[in-house]
Amino acid sequence: MQKRLWTLIERGFQAERLHQNETLFTIGNGYLGVRGTFEEGYPGATPATLIHGIYDHVPSMQIPELVNAPNWLPIAIMVDGTPFTLRFDRHDSLNPPHGALLGYERALLLDRAVLHRSALFRAASGSIVRLTFDRFASLADEHIMAQRVTITAVAGEPVIAVAYSIDADTTNDGVSHWAPDVRTSQALGTIGVERRTAQSGYGVAVTSCVSDPHAVRAAGDALRPALTSVLRLDPTGSAVFDKFSALYTSRDLADPLDAAENAVRQAAAAGYDALLQAHTAAWAKSWAASDIRIEGDDECQLALRLTAYHVLIAAPRHDENVSIGAKTLSGLGYKGHVFWDVELFMLPPLTLTQPEVARNLLMYRYHRLAGARHKAQANGCEGAMFPWESTDTGEETTPQWSDPQPDGSRIRIWTGDREQHISTDIAYAVWQFWRWTGDDDWFRRCGAELLLDTAVFWGSRVEEKNGRYEISQQIGPDEYHENVDNSVFVNRMVVWHLQTALRGLDWLAEQSPDDHARLTTSLDLSAKRLARWRDIIARMFIPFDEAKQIHIQFPGFFDMEYIPVPHYLPRTHSVQAILGHARSIQSQVIKQADVVMLMALLGESLAPRSVLLNNWDTYFPRCDHGSSLSPAMHAWAAARLGLTEIAYDQFHHAVHIDLHDNKGNSRDGIHAAACGGVWQAVVFGFVGLHIDANGDLAFQPALPTHWKRVSFSVNYRGTQRTITVENPA
Ligand code: BGC
Repeated sequence: MQKRLWTLIERGFQAERLHQNETLFTIGNGYLGVRGTFEEGYPGATPATLIHGIYDHVPSMQIPELVNAPNWLPIAIMVDGTPFTLRFDRHDSLNPPHGALLGYERALLLDRAVLHRSALFRAASGSIVRLTFDRFASLADEHIMAQRVTITAVAGEPVIAVAYSIDADTTNDGVSHWAPDVRTSQALGTIGVERRTAQSGYGVAVTSCVSDPHAVRAAGDALRPALTSVLRLDPTGSAVFDKFSALYTSRDLADPLDAAENAVRQAAAAGYDALLQAHTAAWAKSWAASDIRIEGDDECQLALRLTAYHVLIAAPRHDENVSIGAKTLSGLGYKGHVFWDVELFMLPPLTLTQPEVARNLLMYRYHRLAGARHKAQANGCEGAMFPWESTDTGEETTPQWSDPQPDGSRIRIWTGDREQHISTDIAYAVWQFWRWTGDDDWFRRCGAELLLDTAVFWGSRVEEKNGRYEISQQIGPDEYHENVDNSVFVNRMVVWHLQTALRGLDWLAEQSPDDHARLTTSLDLSAKRLARWRDIIARMFIPFDEAKQIHIQFPGFFDMEYIPVPHYLPRTHSVQAILGHARSIQSQVIKQADVVMLMALLGESLAPRSVLLNNWDTYFPRCDHGSSLSPAMHAWAAARLGLTEIAYDQFHHAVHIDLHDNKGNSRDGIHAAACGGVWQAVVFGFVGLHIDANGDLAFQPALPTHWKRVSFSVNYRGTQRTITVENPA
């Protein structure tokens, strides 16, 4: 293993990248995520421990959000009375005496999901110490976190004072989600707190204990319980301090504080090394399934691993009732809400490599069919209409209004009302999961109902007019154009959806007649309804320009102002931001892959290659990639068209979205859809992996010319298959 291709390094502390790096250096285990803030804190830091499923809705906000849990990281260290902080390379007159930072490096070890940091620090007394910090959130036991601090005397015989604490007074950017009551742990040698979310009533308990025999409970504050200890280091001597923490919520069991007290004691008894070993072994297994190896492109290799890492640390291993927010658990962007980013971006890599995890994410939707049915009904439709933004309840949680604009006004957000393709995106993910896993049992029991009831929704939603079927007032993937009639993406995907629903139903009739009968009754799949589906398939309006042989994004699209997007290069903002909202929505500037997304999803079943090429030539130059979801889909589609150089360019951009902060907002969390998208760009795009007509795995490589070899594994119908593709020498 080449360590450097598995390690994200920050050499020298970069204060100007504080928040971006907090996001990038997040650790997690599919249960919780912890931003890469420092144990000792830093001015302006945004620490966050986010737990899947723990949402709360304060009355002052339009929508619920993931709650920032009590912070288990704090370890404050004094060296001869000088506080260790990264600020002390500057004079701080409010806080003398001050020290100096002589050396610093931070490394995220992707192979084992351990965050490591080392610093060389001179105290005001002149003593110099080397400090190293390691932390991980165990993948072997998702309730356990461990930290190790090693302090070595380099000069002098310093007195080291350590305070280990929990900060239970956390907020989401100033907004507190906690009810006033605090329960604290009274267990010997342990500190712990349980808080309850004010509106949703979830209990969240965090406990910590330490290996340090000198540690005593500090007097004090229920919201910041602490253990403290003091020791003197011999010249060149060193000391190792381990802090163990446990986190449970009332989603796990009735008394989370009690569970966390027991768990943390057991963790401490097992010890840091044993916990690390179990954690590392679990990660080795995970990477054996999910790693993509690229030879000939070290830069992208590391970046690609980082994107895979961020999907893997967010993917719930043991919970069918949670899904992954647009920014994973690495930041508060999009408030932890779940979008189509899961089903069409993050899920495919999991479906093909760790299907048991992918199934959990699909089950999250299955268990929220009630919310989807409720939304359909509220919209005068039948079947299941999934919310555009989803949280724990399964109800629509998209805000209706934007935050105030500079002039104080708010913009109406229509996506929750009109971005209805989410229901089809879920159906697409169900079908893909079933085809790749061959998990008939799951399809019979759960998948079919998702596929069919969302089809029922569309059957009721589609409008019969002008001698054909149409769908009005939609938002396709390109969100710059709202409330359009007959989005080609939507209309064509609905045709795919109804066709696929009928195929699924035929399979049930043959292979699983009881389930066929059950669903026919419960979803009212009458002969009349199915006949309507067939009629819609035959007579759906698919906007197409016969003369130019291109799909039309929606009728009227080409009547709007043409703005040559490439002329604005190089740029750091979207063309929409440059031209302003009002002008760009009246223009042909596209936010993200839309027709191109349709091409990626349906390939040549959409149209012959010549049409796909025409579509590419038309839409690629009109897209400003205002969404991070866009470049990876362009890479995939371009690779399939043999436009390898453009494909690589798009891939390179997408795979570095957070590393290079290409969107300027990585501080808010990882762009998780882009992370899943780049996996697809490699596997479905450059490698061209697909299931052929005989049900065999097949590929059609179009690798970037400087890539020597790509290899990875997929799990095809229960068997792990390793695929290696080489460029001709
Ligand atoms: C994109 C959506 C995406 C959402 C969350 C928006 O900017 O246009 O497609 O689902 O961000 O990532």
